[in-house]
Amino acid sequence: MGFDNPYTNAPPIGRNPLHGILPRKATAEQVIRAMESDVNPFNKQPHKPQYKRLLERRKELPVFGQMSEFLKMFTQNQIVVVVGETGSGKTTQIPQLVCYSDLPHTKGQIVACTQPRRVAAMSVAERVANEMDVSLGKEVGYSIRFEDMNEPGATFLKYMTDHTLLREAMNDPDLKQYSTIILDEAHERTLATDLLMAFLKDLAQRRSDLKLVVMSATLDAHKFQKYLSIAGPSKPAPLFKIHGRTHPVEVFYTQEPEPDYIEAAIRTVLMIHRAEGPGDILLFLTGEEEIEDACRRIKFEADDLANQDPQSIGPLVCIPLYSSLPPQQQQRIFDPAPPSRAPSGPPGRKVVVSTNIAETSLTIDGIVYVVDPGLSQVKVYNPRIRFESLLVSPISKASAQQRAGRAGRTRPGKCFRLYMQKDFETELEEQTHPEILRTNLANAVLELAKLGVKDLIHFDYVDAPAPESLMRALELLNYLAALDDEGNLTPLGAMMADFPLDSQMAKMLIVSPEFNCSDEILTIVAMLSVPSVWRRLPNQQKEADVAKALLTIPDGDHLTLLNVYNSYISNKHDRNWCWNNYLGARALQEAENVRAQLQRTMERYDIELVTTQDERKLWQSIRKALVCGFFMQVAHKEGEKGGYLTVKDNQVVSLHPSCGLDSSPEWVIFNEFILTTKPYIRTVTEVRPEWLLEFAPNYFDLSTFPAGETKRALQSVLKKRTLKAVDGTGTGSVSTRSNKH
Ligand code: CDP
Ligand code: MG
Repeated sequence: MGFDNPYTNAPPIGRNPLHGILPRKATAEQVIRAMESDVNPFNKQPHKPQYKRLLERRKELPVFGQMSEFLKMFTQNQIVVVVGETGSGKTTQIPQLVCYSDLPHTKGQIVACTQPRRVAAMSVAERVANEMDVSLGKEVGYSIRFEDMNEPGATFLKYMTDHTLLREAMNDPDLKQYSTIILDEAHERTLATDLLMAFLKDLAQRRSDLKLVVMSATLDAHKFQKYLSIAGPSKPAPLFKIHGRTHPVEVFYTQEPEPDYIEAAIRTVLMIHRAEGPGDILLFLTGEEEIEDACRRIKFEADDLANQDPQSIGPLVCIPLYSSLPPQQQQRIFDPAPPSRAPSGPPGRKVVVSTNIAETSLTIDGIVYVVDPGLSQVKVYNPRIRFESLLVSPISKASAQQRAGRAGRTRPGKCFRLYMQKDFETELEEQTHPEILRTNLANAVLELAKLGVKDLIHFDYVDAPAPESLMRALELLNYLAALDDEGNLTPLGAMMADFPLDSQMAKMLIVSPEFNCSDEILTIVAMLSVPSVWRRLPNQQKEADVAKALLTIPDGDHLTLLNVYNSYISNKHDRNWCWNNYLGARALQEAENVRAQLQRTMERYDIELVTTQDERKLWQSIRKALVCGFFMQVAHKEGEKGGYLTVKDNQVVSLHPSCGLDSSPEWVIFNEFILTTKPYIRTVTEVRPEWLLEFAPNYFDLSTFPAGETKRALQSVLKKRTLKAVDGTGTGSVSTRSNKH
């Protein structure tokens, strides 16, 4: 060894495996030779043994067989659209091929691949780091909101959420460090991916060295091809089509409508476990609680079955998958099914119970059975009452087909749809509605404004949003003083856009020093940005409620969140504190991390962290600061029985059962509107009507109010205020500034 051997493909030891590759002109032969080298071309280390094993598996992916075709198309075009079945190797392989071609590490550049979901970004980055035999967080990294696993200067392949890249573009509109940007899962049509596509289409015309790859799992990519035809209207972007090798999937429907889909889903999973041949099961449900609950019930019943008949029924593991699950637990979906109990006993089975994360963004090998109730949780915005809520809604036909496809990855499979065939054919929409058509656009509009988009109405959207939604967004941002009356970004708006927060939350944080409580508001914002900290397991609800009552501040749930965080910090030495108080330790840790990051953004803008010693005064200041951000989310008590009406929009709502207020105050501010059995408001704090008039005079301009009890109540407050002012007893507005630390 050690000399040039002309008879093998492998490059000689000591020579760079990438030798001979011209940037962006890589051929499949060159790439395969580099991949097969004993030395890792990206860190010059000898490969670990598992590298070759993984490489052999990668070679079986459909993308690998078409490498030459892809590289040619990539070499010859600035923009390429890729379609291929889920599991064909788009997300894991295409970015690697792009790296071999771009050689970003030799130029200090980065190849980015966006994902709509945090879970997918983290999990795929880890997988790809393994496949490339490099360290996660070094050569291959990921960026999601509030978490950066990259090393500047070293990271050359970065998986990131679409929203994170959009935010990067706000501060670097040329995205100079990126050589190629890959928009993955474009078929999901998330708001951020749609906006990025529009932004990158424009950027590609300014930056001829930037390449763009748009990947989709559904086969109707014409829309993207046509949209991305920057070479001229008659020249759609070229399509790279991966020929998947999927197996047939037999689809079954129910004969009757199912009154309870969770019940039906559990029954179906157990039926499969009892009666069908080996193979893992994927069940689609809609949200965390439902999934955890179903896992427990399936496990319980399956253990029972196996105990009764150990000869024919094998062991079963049930693994949940949803976005707020800690990363190590998310990785469990890739664990193999449990072994059979005895050498000749029935084989074990794995059941994954997932939200639609498993529909296209994560591929789980070994799935043979899919159970599909036909529902998913979607964000729905009603511009009339200005509320966004999570609703469990029927999926589209395209989604149903994707779900069924998950059963045919490794061999022929079966999909059990828990609805009738007639409903599939007549009730389901063809495609999932793009998010831009059904969401609150306030944050998007602020981001577009920061990206320099002047004319929001005529912006080149993939699908233009409803004018009413745009108007609502502009109006909200104008009330928050982020946009002026002409729709231009104000300095405050520019600052707000820099916080990775909802605009109302950003506003509240930025103004909080004026109330001497930015230290506390920062904590509250952090707590509102992480998953719920309350741990309320079904068999310990009473104990959990008692523990919660001890931490509750009756003036408002926001204050309770503050109290929980502060107690968590002062009890950090006690490792069991969270557990004993029925609190989620991970969510609290995350809040601590989020808090630290937001604090850094505050420092950049010289927004001081201040507080007040007097607790009563402090609590009042916090509630005032809340009003400055959330004045459009106020409800007024009307009628008997503690019912509330939202201000201006007149939506009837009730306090959510989780609310900790000890009475039902006349005026409240709320963080969330949710629709379950009826409309509820959640995370609620009492406020005073004077504050509404004082801190949001434009919004509470009573001449714009509909007649009604709310208006009358506010009018009488206004009258009292005017009288006081004439008397000279008014206290005026925010003044005290003390106790900085
Ligand atoms: O993006 P696409 O759905 O086309 O496929 P992919 O995510 O690149 O996955 C290709 C294959 O990689 C899957 O079929 C899995 O076998 C494997 N994979 C894995 O084993 N573990 C992961 N975390 C991700 C992918
Ligand atoms: Mg993928």
